[in-house]
Order: sequence, then C-alpha cells, then structure tokens
Amino acid sequence: MSVSSSGKPVSNRAKFATNLGVLAATLGSAVGLGNIWKFPYLTGSNGGAAFLLVYIVCMLLIGIPVMISELTLGREARSNAIATMQKLAPAKQPWWLIGAAGVLAAFLIMAFYSEVAAWVFAYILKAVQGAILSTDPTVTKAAFNDLVANPGLSLLWQWIDLAIVGFIIYLGVNKGIEGVTKKLMPVLLFLLILVGIRSITLPGAGQGLSFLFQPDFSKLTAAGFLIAMGLAFFKLSVGMGTMITYGSYFRDDQDIPATATRVAFSDLAVSLLAGIAIFPAVFAFGYEPNAGPSLLFLTIPSVFASMPVGSVFMVIFFILTFIASIGAQISLVEVPVALLEEKFHLSRPKATIFTMLGIALVGSLAALSNSSLAGVHVFGMSFFDLFDYVTSNLLLPLGGLFIAIFISWIWGYKKLTAALSNNGRLANQLVIKVLYGILLVVTPVLVTIVLLNGLKIIQ
Ligand code: PFF
Repeated sequence: MSVSSSGKPVSNRAKFATNLGVLAATLGSAVGLGNIWKFPYLTGSNGGAAFLLVYIVCMLLIGIPVMISELTLGREARSNAIATMQKLAPAKQPWWLIGAAGVLAAFLIMAFYSEVAAWVFAYILKAVQGAILSTDPTVTKAAFNDLVANPGLSLLWQWIDLAIVGFIIYLGVNKGIEGVTKKLMPVLLFLLILVGIRSITLPGAGQGLSFLFQPDFSKLTAAGFLIAMGLAFFKLSVGMGTMITYGSYFRDDQDIPATATRVAFSDLAVSLLAGIAIFPAVFAFGYEPNAGPSLLFLTIPSVFASMPVGSVFMVIFFILTFIASIGAQISLVEVPVALLEEKFHLSRPKATIFTMLGIALVGSLAALSNSSLAGVHVFGMSFFDLFDYVTSNLLLPLGGLFIAIFISWIWGYKKLTAALSNNGRLANQLVIKVLYGILLVVTPVLVTIVLLNGLKIIQ
C-alpha cells in the first residue's frame, strides 16, 4: 500500500488483478457482524419488514451512490482518504476533513465492534463445551448475561480479538487473510442457508417470516428512519473513506457502478439470509424480536439445538462468523494505521501497536458497558450504544452527505462522466446521468432530512 507522504500516487501502486478479486475484497469489508449481528437486531427492534424496506431504499438512494463516489475518487487519486480529498479538492477547501472524520469513525466503530467479535469468540468456546445448546430462553439468556456481565471476561476476549487483528496487520499478511476469508465465505453462506432451512421449518416459523417480509408501516418512527439509514452506511462500509482506499486499488477498466451494485446486493443477500435464520426462531422459541444486541446470541444456539449434529455446526458457525468479522476489522484498523504511517511516518509495527492500544483503551469503555460501567450513561446511552449510535447515525451520514456534495457539486458532471465511463470506454451514459441526479439532489436532501428528523432537530 505505497502512497508517498505527500499523497502523490506511487506509480507501482498495487491493483486488484481480476474482477472477482475486486468484488471479493470489497465484499470482505462490507460483509461482517453487520449482516449477522446488527442487521437482525436492528430489524427486530425497529418493526421488521417496514424497517427492511426503508433500509433497502437507503441502500439504493444513498449507500450505493456514496459507494460509487468513494470508489471513483479513490481510483482517481490513487491515495488514502485524506490525501485523496486534498488532491482532488480546490486549494484551501477543507474537504480532507471527511477523511479525518473517517479515522475517528473507524476508531469508535472498532471500540464496540471488537467487543461483539469478542462475544462471538467466546461463543466458539461455549459451543465447544456444549453449554449453550438449548431451546430454552432462560438457559440461552443466562449464558449471554453471564458473559457480558463479567468484566474480566469481556475485556479478556476483546483483547484477544484485538491481538489477533493487530497481529495480522503487523505481519502485513492481510492479503493472505483476505484469501482465506474469500474461500471460507461460501461455507458461511452454506451454513446460513442450512440454519435458515431449519428455522423456517420450525413450528410457528410463519410468524417470523411475516415479521421480516410483511410491512406494517405503523411501526416506523423518525428514529427508525435514521437507524435504517445509519445501517445502510455501516453495512456498505461507506461515509468514512474506507471505500476511497479500496478504490485506489481498482483498475482503470473496472466498471465501478456495476461493481458497487453487485457488492450491495450480495451484501443484502447475506443479511436477508441471517434474518431468515433468526426471525422464525424468535417466534418459534418465544424470544422477543426487540431483544437488542443479544438477539443473535440467543436465537442461533436454539436453532442449532433443534438440529441433528447441531453442536458441531454451531461451533463451525461461530468460527466462520468470527473470521467474517476479521475481514471487516482489518479494513477498519487499516484506516488509522495507514494515517499514522503515511502522515506521521511511523513504522508499520509502531503504527499498529499504537492503534491497537488506543482501540483497547476506548474499547474497554464499550466492553464494560454491561458490567462495571452498567450504570454510566452519556446522552442516555451506555458507551457501547453511544459509539454505535454516533458512528452509524452521525459520522457516517455526515461523511456520506459531504462526499455526495463534493463529487456532484464540486468535482462536477464532466469529470464524473469521464471517470465512470472509464474515459468513454463504457456505454453507461444513462446510468451516469441518473446517478449524477441522485448525488446532486436526492442523496443530500434525503440524508439531511433523515438526519435532522431522526435527531429531533426538525419534526
Ligand atoms: N460493513 C461492516 C459490517 O457490516 O460488518 C462494518 C464496517 C467495516 C463498517 C468497515 C465500516 C467500515 F469502514
């Protein structure tokens, strides 16, 4: 990942070799705990199918356009997020702040994301011991509560997760890990489908499917709109410059709009599979759909408990979920590490150690949110919820808003057309026109209204 400190592109900057490689790498950042843990729990807490519909609209009108914008800017400048904005923006305009806010966002996301990965890690061991294999909600709830209410274990598993991620980055073998992740993704998909099949054949499963697919718009709130939009940003890893870095490795002949659309729909498919695996089980076993962040950890063990050789499958499921989380975590940690390396000239090992220590420090606030710090609330939220809320519902939407405004209003139609048509080699004029209109008006207006309304600034 060689970018000179001045942000000038380095001529031998690596590029993804194949179309499939591009798709898999970009998907590696997008697919993670967001699909398997966050999507189901937010859908469950915000009214089910109606929330899902709003989420899909946000993905189409905000997520995909911003993703295309980030990839385009990154490919154009062949730099990290901050240097890209410095290079492409008119002199003296502080657009690089988008990249700086992205570094903060990456840091805060890692603070809670690493704790959820820690729970997944702990669940691998619990699954091996057979301690959670039960269809009885009192048993599964107690197992989860025991884990999160234990400050020592919460910290220990988080540090183990951070040590694993840090070690991978320190060794510089990210590419190798990406290769492993790519190969294991289909196995995770297969397992999700298997769990889904078991789940929809449970007695009472229909109620879960209608919860997920039959919209009841009376359940939608202004806060729900904001949360759905935040999820669209978080899911596609956009609004913070991660995709700018990915775009910088894209080849000049890559069809960016097509790639982004494929990534978004593949990502949605994984989320839906997770939803199909979880919601029928919610109703079949008597859980609450709005159980919150614990939802995955309660329902999935119950589905496996009602399956032949479920205990073995459950171990594999949590191992694969953990591996999926590593791909996303690497892409997150890489943001501050790259900044420390390129801007502050730290060596890669030093940059990694500082970043991981910083995340461990801030992350411990999230890790202890259900135990030692259970009584501490900021703006009415625990640190865990606060980091999640501030990043998805504030930092990423603001980042996305400014990226949309920058590419359409400042960079402009001519440059956008040249970039997205690969200098006229792709016959996608209509796609570009529609996209330009969306980025110019629809995305900024939608993000602004949903933000102001969701934050209760206007009602
Ligand atoms: N998209 C990842 C997920 O859904 O799990 C989370 C994520 C990764 C968000 C990278 C932002 C990011 F830059």
